[in-house]
Amino acid sequence: TKVLVLNGPNLGRLGSRQPEIYGSTTHSQLAEHLVSTGAALGLDVEVHQTNHEGEMLDWLGRAADEDLPVVLNPAAWSHYSIAVADAVAQVGLVVEVHISNVHAREDFRKHLVVSPYATGVIAGLGLGGYDLALRHVAALRVSG
Ligand code: DQA
Repeated sequence: TKVLVLNGPNLGRLGSRQPEIYGSTTHSQLAEHLVSTGAALGLDVEVHQTNHEGEMLDWLGRAADEDLPVVLNPAAWSHYSIAVADAVAQVGLVVEVHISNVHAREDFRKHLVVSPYATGVIAGLGLGGYDLALRHVAALRVSG
């Protein structure tokens, strides 16, 4: 089963970006880790990161067309992008992941416009949230 892990703006700077909030693991280390976690679960994981909203919309459209499950961290778009919300609404299985607990930070981070269209949301469990999201996808989509 193929799964897309899609990370939005500024997540390419994981490791150097506010490490007190997001940790010291880089995006490429995260990607490598998720590919091997996924393989152990029977998933073929593809990890992508972009700072460009249109590119994210194209990946979500592909997931809709090919019925691919998605693990999505929309990053700042989570709080205001109706375009990302509309794209997510077309995908059958989307687990939204936030590394930090967005409910325990600034008020503007509590406003989540994508979440109503996600299947479920994980927030505040660090990078481990991505592993949990993959476990959920595997439980639903891997048979045998
Ligand atoms: C984030 C939380 C967002 O508020 C923020 O804009 C991000 C990352 C998280 O993973 O905790 O870029 O989605």
